[in-house]
Amino acid sequence: MGPEKRPIVRTDAAKFITENVPDNCVDCFHIYFPDPWPKKRHHKRRFLNSSNTDQLIRCLKTGGTIRIATDYAEYFEQIKQVLSAKNETLREIDFLPTAGAQIGEWVGTNFERKYLKEKREIFTIGVKKA
Ligand SMILES: C[S@@+](CC[C@H](N)C(=O)[O-])C[C@H]1O[C@@H](n2cnc3c(N)ncnc32)[C@H](O)[C@@H]1O
Repeated sequence: MGPEKRPIVRTDAAKFITENVPDNCVDCFHIYFPDPWPKKRHHKRRFLNSSNTDQLIRCLKTGGTIRIATDYAEYFEQIKQVLSAKNETLREIDFLPTAGAQIGEWVGTNFERKYLKEKREIFTIGVKKA
């Protein structure tokens, strides 16, 4: 048997999910260090808003998860509010480090490693579709 094929798509995630991903088919969305758009007038560009979260919920299988990490405290507060507003469907779960994470890391991505070197705090949250 050949190597597992894992397609990579480089496009706007919100548009891709909305237009291409069927209902109830995703095991896990990994959303690590989404752009925080720090200027207030740019907050509307943040990926983790209510309507994109509804799309993620639509695509998740029952029991499927969303895992999020950010170094940006104010965005993390917004993310928690967005997720808790969906508490009829989403339940918080423990955020365990990914298989690729080294000791002291949560997810082991390039940006996490950069931020850890800069001694920035990393915030994580995981939720599961009930
Ligand atoms: C701060 S980097 C984090 C990259 C990686 N997840 C990590 O942890 O190392 C944010 C990434 O999100 C991508 N990005 C920003 N807006 C996006 C969107 N609407 N759809 C898909 N990717 C997006 C950017 O191109 C960039 O690669």
